[in-house]
Amino acid sequence: MCGIVGYVGARPAEGVVIEGLRRLEYRGYDSAGIALVDDGTIVSDKRAGKLANLEKAIAESPLPPVTTGIGHTRWATHGPPTDRNAHPHVGRARRVALVHNGIIENFAELRGRLESAGVEMASDTDTEVAAHLLEEQLETGVDLTVAMQNVCRGLNGAFTLVAVDSQDPDRVVAARRNSPLVVGIGEGENFLGSDVAAFIEHTREAMELDQDQVVTITREGVSVSGFDGTPAEGRRYHVDWDLSAAEKDGHDWFMRKEIFEQPRAVADSLLGRRGTDGLLQLDEMRLSDQDLRDVDKIIIIAAGTSFYAGMVAKYAIEHWCRIPVEVELASEFRYRDPILTSDTLVVAISQSGETADTLQAIRHAREQRSKVLSICNTNGSTIPRESDGVIYTHAGPEIGVASTKGFLTQLVACYLLALYLAQVKGTRFGDEIAQVMDQLDQMPAHVQSVLDKSEEVYALARDHVGSRSVLFLGRHAGYPVALEGALKLKEIAYLHAEGFAAGELKHGPIALVEEGLPILCVVPPRGRDQLHDKMLSGIQEVRARGACTLCLAEEGDTTIEPYADVLFTLPQVPVLLQPLVAVVPLQLFACELATQLGHDVDQPRNLAKSVTVE
Ligand code: AGP
Repeated sequence: MCGIVGYVGARPAEGVVIEGLRRLEYRGYDSAGIALVDDGTIVSDKRAGKLANLEKAIAESPLPPVTTGIGHTRWATHGPPTDRNAHPHVGRARRVALVHNGIIENFAELRGRLESAGVEMASDTDTEVAAHLLEEQLETGVDLTVAMQNVCRGLNGAFTLVAVDSQDPDRVVAARRNSPLVVGIGEGENFLGSDVAAFIEHTREAMELDQDQVVTITREGVSVSGFDGTPAEGRRYHVDWDLSAAEKDGHDWFMRKEIFEQPRAVADSLLGRRGTDGLLQLDEMRLSDQDLRDVDKIIIIAAGTSFYAGMVAKYAIEHWCRIPVEVELASEFRYRDPILTSDTLVVAISQSGETADTLQAIRHAREQRSKVLSICNTNGSTIPRESDGVIYTHAGPEIGVASTKGFLTQLVACYLLALYLAQVKGTRFGDEIAQVMDQLDQMPAHVQSVLDKSEEVYALARDHVGSRSVLFLGRHAGYPVALEGALKLKEIAYLHAEGFAAGELKHGPIALVEEGLPILCVVPPRGRDQLHDKMLSGIQEVRARGACTLCLAEEGDTTIEPYADVLFTLPQVPVLLQPLVAVVPLQLFACELATQLGHDVDQPRNLAKSVTVE
């Protein structure tokens, strides 16, 4: 996720901006850049790769010692991570320099209008259009603050924008909608950052902004307004975290921070997927509708958590599209001589885009002339580069080794793929697809409502610190959730944990049940009555043998009460979408239990974030 810094004050801006960017490096990025305002001109440098590349370039071509500047570390979304796509972007007259985090959904339309007015684009980014639009506004005689308000009213999507105007050197202006931005308040200087880590070494006084607000910082002060120009007040607060906590937004672990980022990550992954005609659009799909209509079998390949996302995808694709789906561990795939034809669509799911097993599997599939579509969180990584098409998830960088927001956004991408296939193949009516999209749009709020009850889950985890083993039960789409819950616990709490399909219990696993054994049970929503009732029977079976049943069930499901030693309620959602909410308490449970056990949650023993060896 991009990092943003803005500064106006008395110190050389270059140092403040570069240091701020360094503090934001943990967010992950693939290029970096800086722009300073020097005596009526914009001076800028930007480089692909790490901050060190930018610093080297600046050392060779020093920047002036001016005191107003902005900087950016970019996590590529539109266009590859190159020098030209790195931020800041400037307008045609180089009067404005702008950095951006987020996605401007209507950029194609805005770009078209600018190009027909003769503007030549210097990058592939959505950001650049905003720089040109700001300059257009300034040419009408308004100041940068009003220009920002006017431009933002015409933008769709989620964005933080920070800009400087070469003709107004003592002002930095920013705006936010659904994307992070915080103001740092100093003495004779003020700061902007994606989060407080950007300026915490200079000030601990901060100001938070609401949605759809513009903020102007000068040396003397800070003023806030709505996009419509109405004056507003930001909320000031004192930051009492140290730097390392600040990078984690006050959380003890990146994993916990990432769990709490999930409502935002899910919302970002849904952004821009519906066109003005209401139809689904997947920008980087790159496979033609005809290619997709010809698909007669789908094989999903992935590893670990991504594999479990693939298992959920099977339920959704088969139900909505009536195409047979196989889900296969990437490490097993090419060794079993899979039957692949040019009408087989291979879907590779990988958060990192670098997992060696998955990469080798897609290479094998392409050699057999199958089409490969990847679902990936890392722009420019190897798996999407070697695929015929890609659906990027927009989780932002995932730092904790245990995948959390990566999983939820993979699920979103899988649902989008399933609905897109249904649209192309005509296996679902448009209004049915729209209905599911509406339900997906509700998911960030539902995930948030689960997070709001995190204390309940933490208490549960603390009650089970002494457990030697924990089982997880699920059925249907809840089965992969059970597997994922168990994997989380194995990875970070180093506990024996197994996930089972509830119907399999009596075929063996029930022998493991002994007095007091905690079993987390993912109860399906009541809409599917048979499924729900069968799950209840499974829960009764283990409880009768002394298990302690910790049940996750939808609000209002009173039928579960007699069989649940502990009941955690989930929001009411359709069965196929339930994994998005049901997995969240399991992530919180594992995170808290591992913390209580004193483990390093972010870097568990023996594991690597990106597994680049087979
Ligand atoms: C999940 O918590 C794991 N760390 C691991 O299972 C991971 O999902 C797996 O290695 C696949 O990684 P990928 O999504 O980057 O390909």
